[in-house]
Amino acid sequence: MALYKLEVNGERVTVDVDPETPLLWVLRETLGLTGTKYSCGEGVCGNCTVLMDGEAVRSCLLTAGDAVGKKILTIEGISRETDHPLLVAWREEEVSQCGYCQPGQIVAAYALLSQKPDPTDSEIDEAMSGLLCRCGTYPRIRRAIHRAAELKRRQP
Ligand code: FES
Ligand code: FES
Repeated sequence: MALYKLEVNGERVTVDVDPETPLLWVLRETLGLTGTKYSCGEGVCGNCTVLMDGEAVRSCLLTAGDAVGKKILTIEGISRETDHPLLVAWREEEVSQCGYCQPGQIVAAYALLSQKPDPTDSEIDEAMSGLLCRCGTYPRIRRAIHRAAELKRRQP
């Protein structure tokens, strides 16, 4: 076991975990942030996506040590702002079906809009291409990202 000081959703925390423990399990099991989902565990599905210094990353492929000195943002950090344009747009477009993949989708969309405030369809498809949704919500995700971009532009 080893101690790691992390910054998650703006809060500084210290965790005592095996150095091999994936960041995903540190978030879910040690910190109780279960919004980030486990699915493939191999970097393929994107369900475990979180932001690390603003970049969308697969938390199942990282360890706590990889996150030291970085700012981690999870779906819980985004959801604190209940009227965040992404959440409003997701509700308006009724994106979710079973909902399992949606935290990862929203986190990836957050990273995309931070880098490209008005993405084209192809930019959305490229940014979101590695995020699998077994319910096939891709068309609604795309519409919701456009809508969130529009809502963000209207913000004062
Ligand atoms: S659980 Fe991490 S990419 Fe699938
Ligand atoms: S909403 Fe069910 S897996 Fe995406």
